[in-house]
Amino acid sequence: MEPLQESPVAKSKILIIGATGRLGRHITKASAAAGHPTFLLIRRGTLKIPGPEKTAVLEDLRNLGTSILEGSLEDKSSLLNALKQVDVVISAVGHADQQFLLIEAIKEAGNIKKFYPTEYGTDFDRATCVPSLTPMKAKIQVRRAIEAAGIPYTIVANVAFASIFLAHFWHLEYESPPRDKVEFYGDGERRVPFVFEEDVAKYLIESVDDSRTLNKVLCVRPKLNFISPKQVVARWEKKLRHTLEKTYVTEEEMLKRLSEPDGPPLFDIYTPNLILALRYVIFVKGEMDLPLLPNEVEADELYPHVKYRTVEEFLDSCL
Ligand SMILES: NC(=O)c1ccc[n+]([C@@H]2O[C@H](COP(=O)([O-])OP(=O)(O)OC[C@H]3O[C@@H](n4cnc5c(N)ncnc54)[C@H](OP(=O)(O)O)[C@@H]3O)[C@@H](O)[C@H]2O)c1
Repeated sequence: MEPLQESPVAKSKILIIGATGRLGRHITKASAAAGHPTFLLIRRGTLKIPGPEKTAVLEDLRNLGTSILEGSLEDKSSLLNALKQVDVVISAVGHADQQFLLIEAIKEAGNIKKFYPTEYGTDFDRATCVPSLTPMKAKIQVRRAIEAAGIPYTIVANVAFASIFLAHFWHLEYESPPRDKVEFYGDGERRVPFVFEEDVAKYLIESVDDSRTLNKVLCVRPKLNFISPKQVVARWEKKLRHTLEKTYVTEEEMLKRLSEPDGPPLFDIYTPNLILALRYVIFVKGEMDLPLLPNEVEADELYPHVKYRTVEEFLDSCL
């Protein structure tokens, strides 16, 4: 007698909104690589007049075998049309407050088994919210709106994209890891998970059809990269074979600067005080370096097979 063949479990159909963005392009790649039928909602203007950078991005996204749907977060009928074709929605748009119409549409569509709102940073439900972080509060409002609508969700909390916080040694003004001197926020000893965008995307896609992540916060802090700025610098010094001059911005100094008038945004919505407040929460308060709460799960433990780019590998590539 022929042995019974187990039928493979169908992969969820995924809609990605924000696929042309910094993180969204990696989520799209991970989704297609994992064999999920992958749909992308992209704005008409971006499809028609993409500009040189987005032309290349769109070509890559098409080459992955994705289905591109024209639409936008401001156009409910385009959202409903996209939602009826999929099971799971992943939003990687730049601003949380863009998503309220999407939440309304997901509730109305009624067929979505999981929604990932745009998050991918600090867990603002746990963070000390100094006033300068107010723009980030939209992420909290979105969480409450999802809960109120009874929409199943997963929140991805990865704290610091390594391409920003590690590549520049937590200073956007540096072009690469410094070779002479380095500045720490606080004592430099709080652990921070430094995770590259492509690895955040891999962990996210692993969690799509995993019921253990339903209505949970997925903490992405893979062990080898969950280290303090002091440890990063020590490893860098070992590779350089010399020590760096170290200075410290104290907590008091940061709070004083945060109480002074803010300047205009340096890019997007990011004013000097918002950037400083994020550094304060991540590096001084270290609020991702805490034991798991009952609503949190550890990506590294759920998916130990995921290969990620390590801090060590990154530093070697900078020599
Ligand atoms: N932890 C960290 O260190 C860190 C760092 C950076 C970002 N983040 C977070 O990561 C998330 C994604 O940010 P990102 O920097 O990847 O975003 P991004 O590069 O600004 O990309 C935004 C995406 O949203 C799309 N979009 C914008 N408005 C839209 C609309 N009305 N309808 C449909 N699509 C729209 C854009 O499409 P077009 O091509 O049409 O413009 C683009 O694909 C955010 O939540 C952000 O806070 C975290």
